[in-house]
Amino acid sequence: MRPGRIYQNKQFLESILNEAGFKKNQLIMPIIIHEKRRVKGDGMMPGAVSDCKNEIFQAVYDGLDVGIDSFMLFGIPMIRNSKGSRALMNQGIVQRSTRKIRDEFGSRVQIITDVCVCQYNESGHCGITNYVGNQVENDPTTHLLSKIALSHAQSGADIVSPSSMMDGQVSRIRKLLNGNGFSKVKVMPFSVKHSSNLYAPFRAIAFNSKLRGKPYIDKSTYQISFSNRREALREIVVDINEGADIVMIKPTLTYLDLILMIRENIGDFPIAIQLVSGETAMIKAAAQQKWIDESEWIVQTIASAKRAGADKIITYAALDIANFMA
Ligand code: PBG
Ligand code: ZN
Repeated sequence: MRPGRIYQNKQFLESILNEAGFKKNQLIMPIIIHEKRRVKGDGMMPGAVSDCKNEIFQAVYDGLDVGIDSFMLFGIPMIRNSKGSRALMNQGIVQRSTRKIRDEFGSRVQIITDVCVCQYNESGHCGITNYVGNQVENDPTTHLLSKIALSHAQSGADIVSPSSMMDGQVSRIRKLLNGNGFSKVKVMPFSVKHSSNLYAPFRAIAFNSKLRGKPYIDKSTYQISFSNRREALREIVVDINEGADIVMIKPTLTYLDLILMIRENIGDFPIAIQLVSGETAMIKAAAQQKWIDESEWIVQTIASAKRAGADKIITYAALDIANFMA
């Protein structure tokens, strides 16, 4: 045995992914779409485009070129209002972008949409807040989320992905979709979304303008605590029972144990994970200093998530990963 084999870099990276059993079709490429203009923060947030046909299409072509066919759309509207009502408008940023992509690429692509209100309302919370201004009203929010999800389905989404961590969001969405002839549209909730500062780069671009000066929003009353294992499994089981088609866990690197534990408890049920903005930013920042090798770190990260049991991986580095694969 000669374990010290010498690889060319690309082959080395490819071998890591191969050994972990990773396949290109497990990648999901996020596309963050800004309505109108780009905002600063792009340096730490790769994958952001402006609301212009060419830029959106280019992102999809870039993915298809390297064998990625699943795209997850996050919308960043130009204007917020108190109720976040632009999240469910037929002319909303996600709805319009979904239709454009579907018209251009047809069934070659799988379109997944992020369903939430925090990019659209004035509080920046993932739901309808009460008069105190920081408590989220669960049931009115799930009602709103289901209407947003329906509008995404009507625009052509294949999978809707509620990210607000409200109780009952999956069953409410499932029911409204089924009642409107969209029983084929899948639901992929962010089931175990930890309350985490690792979303900071995403928030820095999503929560600009109105929320400037308020980069930290405490979502710990509905996002889950990093210290609790059993709660994570409970959230997953509830979502599966409510009719989720895929469950999701995020962030990734500090929760590999949970991915494994959940995998061992739910058999073959599909699990997605997201390597979130802060995780990517840490790797990129260190690599820019030449302190670590970006490609190797990203690849090892993906391989570790795959080993732990992830089926689908949402990552801002999707293009890079696909490029390392045959
Ligand atoms: C908002 C949302 C967030 C992310 C995805 N959807 C941030 C938050 O919960 O405040 C994080 C994405 C990332 O950091 O890559 N519902
Ligand atoms: Zn949200």
